[in-house]
Amino acid sequence: MSESEKLTELAKRRGFFFGSAEAYGGVAGFYTFGPEGAALKRNVESSWREQFTTKLGNEEIEAPTIMPEPVFEASGHLDGFDDMLVECPDCGESHRADHLIEDNTDIEEAESLPLDEVEGLIADHELVCPNCGAELADQEVVDFNLMFETSIGPGKGQQGYLRPETAQGIFVEFPRLKEYARNQLPFGITQVGRAYRNEISPRKGIVRTREFTQAELEQFIDPESDEPPLEDVRDVEVVLYPATEQEKESTEYVEVTIGEAVDEGIIASDWVAYFLGVAQGWYESVGVDMDRFRFRQHLPGERAHYASDCWDAEAELGGDWVEIAGFAYRGDYDLSKHGEHGDDSFTVFQQYDEPKTVERAVVDPDMSALGPEFGGQAMAVAEALQELAETNPDAFEADEVTVEVDGDDVTVDTDLANFSVEEQTESGEHITPHVVEPSFGVDRTVYTVIAHAYTEDEVAGEERSFLGLEPGVAPTSVGVFPLLSNAEELTDLAHDVVDDLRAAGLSVSYDESGNIGRRYRRQDEVGTPFCVTVDYEGIESDGPDTVTLRERDTTAQLRLPVDSLVEELSAVRDG
Ligand code: GAP
Repeated sequence: MSESEKLTELAKRRGFFFGSAEAYGGVAGFYTFGPEGAALKRNVESSWREQFTTKLGNEEIEAPTIMPEPVFEASGHLDGFDDMLVECPDCGESHRADHLIEDNTDIEEAESLPLDEVEGLIADHELVCPNCGAELADQEVVDFNLMFETSIGPGKGQQGYLRPETAQGIFVEFPRLKEYARNQLPFGITQVGRAYRNEISPRKGIVRTREFTQAELEQFIDPESDEPPLEDVRDVEVVLYPATEQEKESTEYVEVTIGEAVDEGIIASDWVAYFLGVAQGWYESVGVDMDRFRFRQHLPGERAHYASDCWDAEAELGGDWVEIAGFAYRGDYDLSKHGEHGDDSFTVFQQYDEPKTVERAVVDPDMSALGPEFGGQAMAVAEALQELAETNPDAFEADEVTVEVDGDDVTVDTDLANFSVEEQTESGEHITPHVVEPSFGVDRTVYTVIAHAYTEDEVAGEERSFLGLEPGVAPTSVGVFPLLSNAEELTDLAHDVVDDLRAAGLSVSYDESGNIGRRYRRQDEVGTPFCVTVDYEGIESDGPDTVTLRERDTTAQLRLPVDSLVEELSAVRDG
């Protein structure tokens, strides 16, 4: 069995995740997290919140998952959020054209190629439909928009879309969020929630689904003056695959510290570099194997429509490198677009340290003369003259100036404009903040944590598989077993132990069925770091009651007083 087959089987059998609505045949790309998976996911999310919201001093919001069409017109998702689709002429199955190429040739990152080149590659490599084997050489490759459409309200309703990224819910609320932040940059807003993409070919279990959870941070900065606390992460050692190196050969990488990457210009933005450093530390803390982890810079054609630079965090899963997070420099793209389309201000007023005296070109047109000459257009002409004064004051040195009004050129005698340059005192200026965005896929993180924790070994001559999960994210903190299920003196004490541990906030699984070895294996497979067994030896002596504590990875056991369990196990869980 491949790694992914083993994990899928384990995930189903032990209640981590499984295809949703299987009783009705299921729908590709939708998964349900079972009790173990939901608990693991919750722990990963809460660890993410602790790092990216609390420790970084940010604020979290919760926006709707459905938003009206104009939001996505402004954000560019209606026009630019596409994947390449090729349809089989025989069976009608839809495929992602870039995946077909990547899966069947040596070409990597086909996503960054233009449509006609992709069509050419399908023909040159004589690629066929993976479902029925029909030739795809003559098929057209088209852009397919990934957003799910919906109608808001009864009847025809209002056209809406399920958000394809949580980020837009933050950007559209910027006018209120900046007030909350008292117009002080930099500030960061986080959101953890569902995103929806009508993926052409969902695959690899929960790695590519149609409904998934993102944990995103939108960091709003003044690009001229705001610096991240880079010193916190300068010494973090990272493996980087910069875009220029990839173009030569995809195996070229550099092993540097974050500080070196910035000093040598490998990562252009200090903010992006800072978040790569913070993210790597977080991934390590939740159990991602650092030998199976790297950062890869996007090729120019691969970047999303909003990003001027992007680095992906990638994890090795079953031999493939899979993107688990993206770190994009979005610049002022989103706020400018919402500023143009929306009905509010998406800028912040930045106060200068000292007021500045500035020269401003102004016109003071003689409206009594402009009126008779241009009639109903006089105001529009005056506004156009002011705009020209600001953009090209030299134009007013000529006898006449020409401005465009409602698409027509209008020529005005310069004297009528009353052009002058005035000195003004300004206390600050309106700027459109830039955005740096660490964007994490929670489901992919959960999958990576499970995959990297999966271990096979031998215990007492028997093969065993276990999940070596970090205690801080493991769905269950401790399993508690009475040695025998029909001995009241053992089950009573075991129940007391369970009550005490639960009261201390630990998640406990009580199990009295089957032999003790089998009970250990069950907990090993769901990654429970410790098991407590209540046996006769622990209750028979005159001293305080004791139990055995078994550690998952080594299977080593030690005897402990019952009274010390809460303290010992809480300390391990909290790291
Ligand atoms: N706001 C930026 C953004 O959405 P993205 O790279 O498209 O960027 C961010 O998505 C992360 O969301 C990815 O790194 C990945 O972990 C996760 N993700 C994206 N599409 C996904 C899908 N179809 N299924 C599961 N996770 C997905």
